[in-house]
Amino acid sequence: MRRLLTASAAIFLAGLAGCKATPPGKLETKTMTFIKHHITIGNKNEKDPLPDTPETRADGKEAFGHYCVACHGMDGQNTGVPFGGNMSPPVPSLASKTVQSYTDGQLKRILDYGIKPSGMPGSKGILSDDELWSIVIYLRHLPPKGSQGVPEMYTH
Ligand code: HEC
Repeated sequence: MRRLLTASAAIFLAGLAGCKATPPGKLETKTMTFIKHHITIGNKNEKDPLPDTPETRADGKEAFGHYCVACHGMDGQNTGVPFGGNMSPPVPSLASKTVQSYTDGQLKRILDYGIKPSGMPGSKGILSDDELWSIVIYLRHLPPKGSQGVPEMYTH
């Protein structure tokens, strides 16, 4: 059943993605958000094995800074990312309620496998499990928007 749902959601997604030069409409975005939160993004109940300490937050920030910044900005809120708004769907603010309402397990799943089809890549095999779990902790404590400046790759 799970498989079937995932497969039909994927077809649905592919259909949506097929004709996209314009940003997704409101209804489409709402529908997609519902589908992701309730159907396609599993792993709801897995708990973050790392403790939420200043050290893990710093580790998460560092891992985030190597890779995720290119699209999400240092602050996870797109600061300084030149093309963020032009992707379809656009790069969301990771501080938004939509993103924060995922469970830790769902966030880990998103980081592992990405969101298909969209610009959000999977990181499994690129970053270690520990790095990804520390990123989940960093995502729960994102710094204020704009406070981290522009990612280095876009400053020159
Ligand atoms: C190549 C650009 C790119 C990179 C690199 C990237 N992302 Fe994303 N990310 C996106 C886009 C585009 C979306 C929007 C996807 C969607 O809504 O379908 C997204 C969405 C997300 C979401 C929200 C998903 C949702 O359903 O709302 C999270 C959480 C996220 N990214 C975290 C990360 C983290 C953490 C990293 C680093 C490990 C990362 N991203 C790397 C482009 C990127």
